[in-house]
Amino acid sequence: MTPKTFKIKSFGCQMNVYDGERMSELLAAEGMSAAADSEDADLVVLNTCHIREKAAEKAYSDIGRLQREDGSKPLIALAGCVAQAEGTEAKRRSPMIDLVVGPQAYHRLPEMIAEAARGGRPVDTDMPALSKFDLLPARRRANPSAYLTVQEGCDKFCTYCVVPYTRGAEVSRPWEDVTAEAQALVDGGAREIVLLGQNVNAWSDGQRGLAELIRALATIDGLERIRYTTSHPADMTDALIAAHGEVEKLMPYLHLPVQSGSDCILKAMNRSHTTDTYLRLLEQMRSARPDIALSGDFIVGFPGETEADFEATLQIVDAVRYAAAYSFKYSARPGTPAAVMEDQIPRDVMEDRLRRLHERINAHQLAFNRSKVGVDTQILIERAGRRDGQMIGKSPWLQSVHVDTAARPGEILDVTLVSAGPQSMAGAVIERIAA
Ligand code: SAH
Ligand code: SF4
Ligand code: F3S
Repeated sequence: MTPKTFKIKSFGCQMNVYDGERMSELLAAEGMSAAADSEDADLVVLNTCHIREKAAEKAYSDIGRLQREDGSKPLIALAGCVAQAEGTEAKRRSPMIDLVVGPQAYHRLPEMIAEAARGGRPVDTDMPALSKFDLLPARRRANPSAYLTVQEGCDKFCTYCVVPYTRGAEVSRPWEDVTAEAQALVDGGAREIVLLGQNVNAWSDGQRGLAELIRALATIDGLERIRYTTSHPADMTDALIAAHGEVEKLMPYLHLPVQSGSDCILKAMNRSHTTDTYLRLLEQMRSARPDIALSGDFIVGFPGETEADFEATLQIVDAVRYAAAYSFKYSARPGTPAAVMEDQIPRDVMEDRLRRLHERINAHQLAFNRSKVGVDTQILIERAGRRDGQMIGKSPWLQSVHVDTAARPGEILDVTLVSAGPQSMAGAVIERIAA
């Protein structure tokens, strides 16, 4: 039976969220409608993440849960990075899967769904660089803060990471495509655009890099804020750093993962920076934009990580004073060089280190948030809060700010930040300045 309703569930990074939105628009253009829940959907697309074992295993446990009490099941599409990594093997692992589609092939979903509805079990994990973008329907509606993928793939081959295998080589979307999509998102209601890429600061088109792209987007009327994520220290150019000091719409926030504070571990990870080059880069950022909020990612328990290596990670956290940071237990991924390295770290040691790192990061997050108490700033309203009359918006430094206001998503409000927690702030409205 040809499905009439669909549910897309995206896991993993923002690029998956973006892909999920584009799949949703594609299926809607085919005349299908979105279901509120997978229970009510004829088709469920699991848009999966392969980055750590837990994320990848979740895909299969979620599939099992789609079996319904009456013995029926929806049509099931496995999409995203698990689909790319496992391909045909996924069909063997779970007989419930009806089709497998990789992140570079989902423009083919309509024909694959038709084939699956006829009883076939199609698999497409081809990586035809950028052709999907030419074949997807144009953007029409956008969230106040909208994602825009401008770069895909990764050539860095950090020894722990699956992304170069699941997302392929680094490719940049052309200037004209990206600027046209940005304009369409603003026409569709976006006030903020978050440029996305696995290494977004490696984006280029000929001589033009991300800094030039940001400067061009800043001229779009109605677009008030620009952000970009995730960046690699190796691709942080002087032009991009300078843009942070000069482009008002470019928000003072930079996610720049270091992964470890130990040079020895960074080398084993095949990260191209040392703690010293990384810290110098951040100094340059801070002289271009003194109030920049810095964030990062950390892996604890990489093979061979000693207590001293780990303590060096705590030290770099203290040195940078991150406004936010994400930390993960190392997860050995099949096919990556680190998975077969000697001296894998026992689970309890990893857990202990993760706990200590969390504590340290939380303390810095709280200190950063507290440093903003009393500050007058603007927030972009994104959604309703838990309490009646409460809305949640984002500060320039990407803090979630709770305010009591009748303002709707997409409005930008003047607020005073009045109190701080480790994960969010409270604000009080000063006056409505923009609709
Ligand atoms: N391209 C980005 C982020 C990629 S994945 C970058 O280079 O920084 C997001 C984060 O997941 C990484 O920054 C890293 O901290 C974490 N990660 C990646 N592979 C991992 C693994 N095998 N085990 C644990 N964490 C991992
Ligand atoms: Fe993975 Fe490293 Fe590429 Fe980031 S830079 S996606 S961590 S291989
Ligand atoms: Fe996960 Fe793929 Fe993103 S592995 S983090 S969904 S690129």
